[in-house]
Amino acid sequence: MRPTGEEPRARIDAHDTAAKPTRAIVLLPVVRGAEDDRRAPEGRLAEVVGLAAAIALDVVEARVVPVRRPRPGTLFGAGAADEITGLARAAGAELVVVDHPLTPVQQRNLEKAWAAKVLDRTALILEIFGERAQTAEGSLQVEHAHLTYQRSRLVRSWTHLERQRGGFGFLGGPGETQIEADRRQIAERIARVEKALEEVRRTRSLAREKRRRNNQPVVALVGYTNAGKSTLFNRLAGAHVESRDLLFATLDPTLRRLALPHGLEAVLSDTVGFISHLPTSLVAAFRATLEEVTLADLVVHVRDIAHPETEAQAADVVATLAGIGVDPGQREVLEVWNKSDLLPPDERVERAAAAAAQGAVLASAATGEGIDALLIAVEDRLARRAEVRDVAVPATDGALLAWLYRNTEVLSRRDGGPSVELTVRIPEARLADALGRLGEPLPGEPASVGPWRP
Ligand code: GTP
Repeated sequence: MRPTGEEPRARIDAHDTAAKPTRAIVLLPVVRGAEDDRRAPEGRLAEVVGLAAAIALDVVEARVVPVRRPRPGTLFGAGAADEITGLARAAGAELVVVDHPLTPVQQRNLEKAWAAKVLDRTALILEIFGERAQTAEGSLQVEHAHLTYQRSRLVRSWTHLERQRGGFGFLGGPGETQIEADRRQIAERIARVEKALEEVRRTRSLAREKRRRNNQPVVALVGYTNAGKSTLFNRLAGAHVESRDLLFATLDPTLRRLALPHGLEAVLSDTVGFISHLPTSLVAAFRATLEEVTLADLVVHVRDIAHPETEAQAADVVATLAGIGVDPGQREVLEVWNKSDLLPPDERVERAAAAAAQGAVLASAATGEGIDALLIAVEDRLARRAEVRDVAVPATDGALLAWLYRNTEVLSRRDGGPSVELTVRIPEARLADALGRLGEPLPGEPASVGPWRP
């Protein structure tokens, strides 16, 4: 083992030749008894290797490491940790990706033991987000997530990835030395970023208001990373959005006009790719982007139906949606089972029948199969769209309450104060009548969205 005081950074700088990709080991710790993941470890390991490749790491070794009892200081047991030390040395690894949350202490200890930089899952995803951010807003959101992560731990400066990519990286972004020196400065930067994001949110909300006045419904594409959102977006809107076989090619939402078969026009919004175990702090950081989803008239959930883990991926997306307040029970969600061209013929027939039975659309963004059916389904769903509102009705107004129960769908009810607070789903056809009776302006923002808060 290397002397413990030695900084991995010094070692890497000394040996680094600028263009050489960083040699990395990827580890998936599987903690016994703590597994709530339905996915096979091999599939999960393959996913992390894919993530690592997305930031051009040269993955020289990848393995699942069973952890019988997580150690507070190192996570791994002594035997496993030693084995990885040997592995790292033999492979000349400069970086070890550990697909598990690590405490700052665990990270530091493992870095010393392995004489390599250690990234946990959050840090890895932040690296990817940082590289993919294309607009000012995307960069702001990444910076926010990044600063919040840094605030929770002082990360040793390590600039290799950063220099190699020349992108925005939390491991060695501008001013990192001050960050290490002064937590207060992080707080100040966070405040500045939040202010800028609040401005972004305000601009978005004005744009949304305008669309609403023009009665342009919004269709938001969501999906697990690499499901094919950008490809479908291009296919539907005829736009040129970057689409490549890279995870998170899409970080910033992009809006395009979508012409529907019978003349209706909608706004199509492409959003950030979701992924399993997306840390909640990251979900919060992307809230301004995700608001496009929470306020969309129709959410189109793009699934890679040919992926072996398609069910688990879908469950992750639904959970992430629920986390940002998009409840399939309250909002129209249309599933697109994408990549039908990759299915073997017999499975394709089965899937087509299942899709029809479940109100999903089997399609291929690559070949165009099923796209007409998708457009019809979108139009159909938009036509029966309804608006969900939080409303307060004077407790004494029994007639109005009775009307609401007859004419809208009451999703929740809170009694107790002078008013009864209800969440109601109002069918489009009753909207004007209902809002008139409730004394609410038409149209307006749904009442359930609060101010931006990280
Ligand atoms: P993120 O930005 O990571 O969220 O990805 P995305 O969901 O936007 O996926 P993207 O459109 O970038 O597609 C990912 C990969 O899948 C690309 O290599 C596409 O060419 C491929 N792909 C997308 N749709 C289809 C399809 O219908 N069939 C096939 N065979 N490949 C597809």
